[in-house]
Amino acid sequence: MTQCKITLDDRLLADIVNPNEIDAYAPALAAAEKMLSEHNGPGNDYLGWLDLAEKTPDSLVDAINEKATDLRKKADVLVCIGIGGSYLGARAAIDFLSPSFEDLRSPRVLFAGNTINSDYLDDLLTLLKDKEVAVNVISKSGTTTEPGVTFRVVRQWMEKRYGRPEAAKRIVATTDAKSGALRALAAEEGYSTFEIPGDVGGRYSVLTPVGLVPIAVAGIDIRKLLAGAAQMAGICAGNDAKGGLSGRYAVLRNILFRRGYGIEVMASFQPQLHFVGEWWKQLAGESEGKNGTGIFPASLDYTTDLHSMGQWMQEGVRTVFETFLYIRNTRSTLTVPRFSDDSDELNYLAGKSFEEINRQAYAGTLFAHIDGGVPASSIMIEDRTEETLGQLFYFFEKAIALSGYLLRVNPFDQPGVEAYKKNMFALLGKKGFEKQHEDLAGRMSKAGMA
Ligand code: PA5
Repeated sequence: MTQCKITLDDRLLADIVNPNEIDAYAPALAAAEKMLSEHNGPGNDYLGWLDLAEKTPDSLVDAINEKATDLRKKADVLVCIGIGGSYLGARAAIDFLSPSFEDLRSPRVLFAGNTINSDYLDDLLTLLKDKEVAVNVISKSGTTTEPGVTFRVVRQWMEKRYGRPEAAKRIVATTDAKSGALRALAAEEGYSTFEIPGDVGGRYSVLTPVGLVPIAVAGIDIRKLLAGAAQMAGICAGNDAKGGLSGRYAVLRNILFRRGYGIEVMASFQPQLHFVGEWWKQLAGESEGKNGTGIFPASLDYTTDLHSMGQWMQEGVRTVFETFLYIRNTRSTLTVPRFSDDSDELNYLAGKSFEEINRQAYAGTLFAHIDGGVPASSIMIEDRTEETLGQLFYFFEKAIALSGYLLRVNPFDQPGVEAYKKNMFALLGKKGFEKQHEDLAGRMSKAGMA
């Protein structure tokens, strides 16, 4: 029997959300679940993630592990170039499962191509100077500007440093099976490649080679990660339509949204969860924010942010609901030491573990925010293991897909992200964007920006 490592504790919502309201969602939830399982809802070309873990062949896991072993032997640093769905999942997994400081990780996986900032890139090249380096460039389309221009710089640096043939042996490209500029370049240069399945969108791609390659290079057991996701797929399949786990979370957030709580804050209590929050924001934001609707996903890191955003959360505009993310079992059992002088009056905490104190901080915050008018529930995560993280990734993917269908949007497209790109291309003089260039230049000059 599979142990479910993720639980949703919504007991404190009982005074806010009536069980009848939850029951009233049952038909819509069952319909959403049916659209997913029968592949006949909006965006059904992008449902490859549903059974990805079970369907990933052993041969692919072996090939990724083999490449990872090779790169781990060759390199102290893997530079991982990608943005959005081609970045956040790997970063979330590596941060969740690895030691807290990059200096304690070997090899280090450093991320680039997720901003357009020369200072960052320059600093990265400075850091790489006396290191052995490998590169994983990740882009499904192969045409995204941020990783594209970053890879130009890093490729040039690699070729200068190692010569073109050796650089090619140290570069791995993860991209579409057939199309795109990166696929063509990889073939020309002889880079090793991994394919991104066509039926898995960027934000759902962490368990494809997009995430699995860097995660494996970081020394993480990707088989266990996939096993966790497969377990959660089984748990969800039997439960969601009946309002269990992912289904229940999807329903609760929709009920709160319709009551006017338009913002969901994912508040985590351990720093290893920071990038899980970032990954979730993309998953939820890109899936639901369209057609003039969508819950706005935000994330906070407690207790750090209780000292900056805590005031707002307690007493600000009451349009926000909160989902706490809490890891039950941390790895360290460090306790607070006793000092006989007790000059800081903290001896009442002596002998208590940091996690016991953190647990009370969590419980105290939960009750304070509920009392302050913020509907709150918690997602409890058993531990920091690969299996658990695999379960967590799948839980959220399934929940957000269901939630998107409950909101009556296509959770698998992202037409809105093109708008800024078109403007940027026009402003930078890309061929084919001449008309937009003229329009924007006129608007800029009118606004005094020219
Ligand atoms: O979810 C998405 O589709 C996006 O966030 C993409 O992942 C992101 O834009 C990167 O795209 P690509 O992998 O094509 O470079």
